[in-house]
Amino acid sequence: MNITLIGVGYVGLVTGLVFSEKTHQVNFIDIDTKKIELLKDAKVPFYEPQIEGLLIKNFDLLTFHTSLSQEISSITDIYFVCVGTPRTKEGQLDTKFVMTACREIVMKTEVPVPIVIKSTVPVGTCKRVWNLVNGLKDEVKENWPILFNPEFLREGNAVYDSFYPERIVIGTENKEDKSTYIIKELYRDWQAPLIICDLESAELIKLASNGFLATKISYINELAKLSEVIGVDIKKVTEGMGLDSRIGKKFLQAGVGYGGSCFPKDVESLITTGKNVGQSLTILEAVQEVNYEQRNWFINKIKNILDGVTNKTIGILGLSFKPNTDDLRYAPSLTVIPELLKKGAKIKVYDPKAMGNIRDYFTGVICCSNSYEVAKDSDCIVILTEWEEFKNLSLEKLKTCLKRPIIIDGRNVFEPARMKEYGFIYEGVGRRNV
Ligand SMILES: NC(=O)c1ccc[n+]([C@@H]2O[C@H](COP(=O)([O-])OP(=O)(O)OC[C@H]3O[C@@H](n4cnc5c(N)ncnc54)[C@H](O)[C@@H]3O)[C@@H](O)[C@H]2O)c1
Repeated sequence: MNITLIGVGYVGLVTGLVFSEKTHQVNFIDIDTKKIELLKDAKVPFYEPQIEGLLIKNFDLLTFHTSLSQEISSITDIYFVCVGTPRTKEGQLDTKFVMTACREIVMKTEVPVPIVIKSTVPVGTCKRVWNLVNGLKDEVKENWPILFNPEFLREGNAVYDSFYPERIVIGTENKEDKSTYIIKELYRDWQAPLIICDLESAELIKLASNGFLATKISYINELAKLSEVIGVDIKKVTEGMGLDSRIGKKFLQAGVGYGGSCFPKDVESLITTGKNVGQSLTILEAVQEVNYEQRNWFINKIKNILDGVTNKTIGILGLSFKPNTDDLRYAPSLTVIPELLKKGAKIKVYDPKAMGNIRDYFTGVICCSNSYEVAKDSDCIVILTEWEEFKNLSLEKLKTCLKRPIIIDGRNVFEPARMKEYGFIYEGVGRRNV
């Protein structure tokens, strides 16, 4: 098929490259000129494992543009809308980029071609898109098909998740129409279970899934705090819980709280949707509050261990919201670092992939090129992202670099007993002191 994707971010680029690997012809459209210019040179505009290889391998099947042209629209069999839906100040997902992209498609396309929305949207958005696009062209002889195909990929594992999703959800107005047939054909090669349902259910499946995962994280973070007070090791607790298949091991890692471009805004979107219809979502409200408090609790932990942070040098390892991505959106580092700076600390930072984005987010921090440089003459190390390379650091060398051998580990990367052996003052999240 000839597929056109609007919005070439983490979702759009990966989705398109995976389609190209299945030998489809793919056109990428993004208003960000810099991104498109990089891609035209076969360069990836952000860090995500494996995508560079796919881009280079399938380059001949790909085209890149800053706007949709009639030339592209006339050969497109199906559109995917993958633009951002950032948080509005009212706490809802902003659908203006989705609306703009869909309007553009309809204005530039002669006959109805299925538009599949992949962006995460509030429940009811696809119906609104349908009303919008079908009101735009008086002369359309048939309804312009709008489908919703939520994306569940995880940044850092996006390519694997796109090849091997655990389910494919398709929201449609009409399960029997041609557009549903086209998208089913497109996903024929995938082994995943296919859920075909109405648009609103598909929209809620996406938001409810993220809400549930965020709930697991906040639940375990709250238990971690309890564990610390009563002298229990949260890692043992989660090991014991996670083996129960009704619970599962994933998303039970205690830490400094969830971040990223999805969980915070998706949880809030559900809460706002509930409020708008008079149905409160008490659990999700608590999930959000616990997550917010977790960052403050961790900041206080740093302050207590260092006996105040004024004039202290604090070395931060990890800035991205999770490992294997350079994405800093809503990352815990965005709360922790400014608060420490405000209290008069000197901050040194290192992240294996996110250093390129740092100037967009932080001022007044000292950028280092590796973990040992961060540790050099610092009063402590604070770990905010569990990058694999931090697990393999030489603890001896780290200790020699530090002014004081203190590690405050917001991701439980290390084992307290091992750290004690090396002579560190070590504090994780919910770990039992040894
Ligand atoms: N990032 C994830 O892990 C993830 C996972 C699942 C779902 N989602 C959802 O998918 C959507 C996209 O997320 P993302 O992380 O890829 O976003 P992103 O910010 O990385 O990329 C969005 C892109 O859309 C472009 N854009 C905006 N308006 C446009 C327009 N009118 N025409 C063309 N391009 C336009 C922007 O320039 C940007 O490059 C969001 O709704 C998000 O919630 C994201």
